[in-house]
Amino acid sequence: MFYDLARRFMFTRDAEWAHEFALNNLRRFSNTPLNAAWSQSIADKPVNFLGLEFKNPVGLAAGLDKNAECIDAFSQMGFGFVEVGTVTPRPQAGNDKPRIFRLPQSNAIINRMGFNNKGVDNLVNNVKAAKYTGILGINIGKNKDTPNEQGKDDYIHCMRRVFEHASYITVNISSPNTPGLRDLQYGAALDDLLQSLKNEQLDLIAKHNKQVPMLVKIAPDLDEIQIAQVSESLLSNKIDGVIATNTTLERSAVMGLQYADEAGGLSGLPVRERSTHVVSELKRLTKGNLPIIGVGGIDDAQSAKEKLNAGANLVQVYTGFIYKGPQLVKSIVNGL
Ligand SMILES: Cc1cc2nc3c(=O)[nH]c(=O)nc-3n(C[C@H](O)[C@H](O)[C@H](O)COP(=O)(O)O)c2cc1C
Repeated sequence: MFYDLARRFMFTRDAEWAHEFALNNLRRFSNTPLNAAWSQSIADKPVNFLGLEFKNPVGLAAGLDKNAECIDAFSQMGFGFVEVGTVTPRPQAGNDKPRIFRLPQSNAIINRMGFNNKGVDNLVNNVKAAKYTGILGINIGKNKDTPNEQGKDDYIHCMRRVFEHASYITVNISSPNTPGLRDLQYGAALDDLLQSLKNEQLDLIAKHNKQVPMLVKIAPDLDEIQIAQVSESLLSNKIDGVIATNTTLERSAVMGLQYADEAGGLSGLPVRERSTHVVSELKRLTKGNLPIIGVGGIDDAQSAKEKLNAGANLVQVYTGFIYKGPQLVKSIVNGL
């Protein structure tokens, strides 16, 4: 009810303005009685995954809380886990505005944010200040002005900074909005990156005496051969899990709609089927040996079940949550 009103107001405004407005209020009021506007209790549906206990299988996907400013508020909404970021070593402004567009006829969003964030040190301070004690994923990336050949150093820098504060770390190599980033998903560049990050993870596990699984987030736009190569590389480098998928560059499902030609990644309903396909291919190719978080176009219990049936162990939501609000979390968890 509250979200219906809030949404009606926010959808009359520019999408990024609404995003900032919502995050500011969530941050300000998360530990006050006003959090009753979004707090809800949801019966636990525990899942053991990656050696961690999740209170339910529905998480918040990366990109909504890039700086980890609202972790407490998202936990109060009943998410089983929260993923923050993508964060980069140094703060960066991202692309010029406008850079988020709603396509309500398709329950979709196009964004070309470009990893706007306040940098990893700021994120770590925010995580430390939060009261949240549940499962926290921290999603890391590279700065736009870091050449791909040195991209590895950015990921390692972020890993070192976030390691002791994260339940798991996501290596994002699939945003379409950082030029060249997706090239890291292929061939020797991928193997080289994953091998270095795995070595770093092992060093950090020994140093901190703490297991922090590392997942890799991939694009829905990989063809069948590329999915097979990525699967092979994830397995051979002993990566702990995969998140499928990020946003798509494909536009066939929204052709003709307002904003359909805007550059960026498309999310929501139009990416649902393709993401599910990638999940099922990953499951098949890795013979079930690679833990999977499924994300893309989930906006009810049915679409969440579709990802789980395809092989995902957990799911995440972003665009569906923008359209439906906190009640989506409850309806999915209760409907599973
Ligand atoms: C505005 C916006 C910003 C996003 N930013 C990030 C990001 O920083 N890092 C990331 O890994 N994914 C990011 N994503 C992708 C989502 O986490 C998710 O993978 C994708 O949108 C598909 O899920 P959905 O259909 O539920 O939105 C972003 C998505 C949107 C709509």
